[in-house]
Amino acid sequence: MIEPIVLGIETSCDETGIGIVCGNTLVANQIASSIAEHARFGGVVPEIASRAHLEAMLPTIDRALAEAKLKLTDIDAISVTRNPGLIGALLVGVSAAEGLASGLGIEIHHVDHLDAHIAVDSLDHGALTQPAIALLVSGGHSSIMLVEDITQGATVLGSTIDDAAGEAFDKVARLLGLPFPGGPQIDSVATSGSSTAIKFPRGLTATHDLVEHKFDFSFSGLKTAVARWIEAQQRAGNALSVPDVAASFQEAVVDVLTQKAIAAAIENGIGTLFIGGGVAANSRLRDLAAERARAAGLELRIPPRQLCTDNGAMVAALGALRLQAGRPATRQN
Ligand code: KG4
Ligand code: ZN
Repeated sequence: MIEPIVLGIETSCDETGIGIVCGNTLVANQIASSIAEHARFGGVVPEIASRAHLEAMLPTIDRALAEAKLKLTDIDAISVTRNPGLIGALLVGVSAAEGLASGLGIEIHHVDHLDAHIAVDSLDHGALTQPAIALLVSGGHSSIMLVEDITQGATVLGSTIDDAAGEAFDKVARLLGLPFPGGPQIDSVATSGSSTAIKFPRGLTATHDLVEHKFDFSFSGLKTAVARWIEAQQRAGNALSVPDVAASFQEAVVDVLTQKAIAAAIENGIGTLFIGGGVAANSRLRDLAAERARAAGLELRIPPRQLCTDNGAMVAALGALRLQAGRPATRQN
């Protein structure tokens, strides 16, 4: 049987991602990022992102087709991020997908961005083990999800009640004078710091918090604690060790993320933990998750770093899984 070719379009935030998969094999993954245009604002500006998607869409599709050595008419189906994300940015992706699909007379699968972050693991590590628990950590989301069948969507067991994990990385990086996006910066600076230098709070881990928020996260108190600590050092005239603050902050985040994700797997009697989203590229999160999953006897699956941050391959991967499972197109042309 000839394996279907699926083109994935991702435009939920600042990356125009176009991925192409043939069956479950990735044959192209092209990304145009408008991150440099947002850097001076310290965060993504929705209008700038939408405009950049519009400009990057066709050239990025062309680059992906060239990488895969395919023509547009070779594509069997289009998969596109429907939600969640910046509304104007999503609209550019969905309009492009619908225009292409109707021009080519092929089907479309409108998919969920968070489900796609999980599905991407099927490209490098083979069929997803299901049921599984997924820890989804990005600039916009921090959720623990139960994945019974990713082609039907995952169920959220808990999520952040304030900042997302990636957002906390970005905000703390800003406090430390590191450029946006802050996650990769903190990850790198922290390697020369001590994770035990400063004891920062672990949000929603106290016994009374667990009653209502067992699998929820909160990072805004941690961000405030870092800001207060920096101010106190400055007031006292002490030199600030950026690596120590970065490493201690990072430890507080990844300690809670891994603790709660593993507790969710154990409580639900599930043997596999997936970690996905931009923050899953974090070295310390990857190491600590591996250590704790091993101790708990869980299989741990984390996509390669370049597939953790937003990309089109993850959207194509979920579209391909939907086709293989015989899920109906969300729009037939
Ligand atoms: O999944 P993603 O690319 O976009 C969203 O859907 O939000 O995630 C972006 C987030 C940013 O907040 C960025 O700082 C964070 O992921 N991030 C990291 C690392 N790489 C990206 N956070 C910590 N360590 C990293 N190595
Ligand atoms: Zn994402």
